[in-house]
Amino acid sequence: DAVKRVFSGIQPTGIPHLGNYLGAIESWVRLQDKHSSVLYSIVDLHSITAAQDPAVLRQSILDMTAALLACGINPEKSILFQQSQVSEHTQLSWILTCMVRLPRLQHLHQWKAKTAKQKHDGTVGLLTYPVLQAADVLLYKSTHVPVGEDQVQHMELVQDLARGFNRKYGEFFPVPKSILTSMKKVKSLRDPSAKMSKSDPDKLATVGLTDSPEQIVQKFRKAVTDFTSEVTYDPASRGGVSNMVAIHAAVTGLPVEEVVRRSAGIDTARYKLLVADAVIEKLAPIRSEIEKLKMDKGHLQKVLQAGSVKAKELAYPVCQEVKELVGF
Ligand code: ADP
Ligand code: NA
Repeated sequence: DAVKRVFSGIQPTGIPHLGNYLGAIESWVRLQDKHSSVLYSIVDLHSITAAQDPAVLRQSILDMTAALLACGINPEKSILFQQSQVSEHTQLSWILTCMVRLPRLQHLHQWKAKTAKQKHDGTVGLLTYPVLQAADVLLYKSTHVPVGEDQVQHMELVQDLARGFNRKYGEFFPVPKSILTSMKKVKSLRDPSAKMSKSDPDKLATVGLTDSPEQIVQKFRKAVTDFTSEVTYDPASRGGVSNMVAIHAAVTGLPVEEVVRRSAGIDTARYKLLVADAVIEKLAPIRSEIEKLKMDKGHLQKVLQAGSVKAKELAYPVCQEVKELVGF
């Protein structure tokens, strides 16, 4: 199928981590070079489905913007914008919310997983979050959406909503396809059975894009491996070492087999430091660019505003047509 429009979103969690970079942002950069109509949204409306602090959120939006630009997202090649500045997202979201039945949302894995962890009931916003995601995608009549494996179920909902809308109102939305990122999940450095995550309470588990070389060395030194000293790639039985190999391959651009071949005779303790060095080298220019961009808040705000104006130009007519179809 022809790629006509690519859309993806990322929550403004502040400075992203190595998993976000290798699993999402790096492929976003490739996609903007390959395709002519690409939109990337900082999805701040999604952020308030979890408890948020206004000052922290405001800063996190700017930090994420700085990081995306530093990683190579280029506003000349893709539209980078702030979701809440394009009010059509919430309008379409409401219309779609009225087309989905409660159990469809209650059965989604992420809702179940997130509410299982909480002491209190989840908010209605957390429940309907995937419908807002559907609105994000459909508002631009997107044909392709780069996502991680954990989002496949939500993409099925997006597709069902597109089909459901088309059945009721006539062919209108393309049914968008997922572009699965080739990178398997980067694992926690402390627990290779878990993914590297921003919300991990163990600060040694996650590498941030602005971590200093000293911090990176410390985190890799403390990374959990096993009692075999040889470097092999076997994610099922040797999660920790395999995570090192996967990270090493990803930051050097070499195939996994080549990375393993070059590590022959090196024990895992030394290997972890080699991987740390490769990560430091990969992140050095990104880190310094983020620090530079962060100093010019006005510039970051301007980039987001300009992107949001462009996004709005695409969103407005689609939303108008939807409203007419619905009978408004
Ligand atoms: P986090 O789990 O740290 O809160 P998000 O869920 O906000 O991260 O994910 C943002 C993007 O980064 C998504 O596209 C997601 O698939 C990707 N991503 C998050 N963590 C990882 C990881 N450990 N490895 C690879 N990709 C990841
Ligand atoms: Na482009």
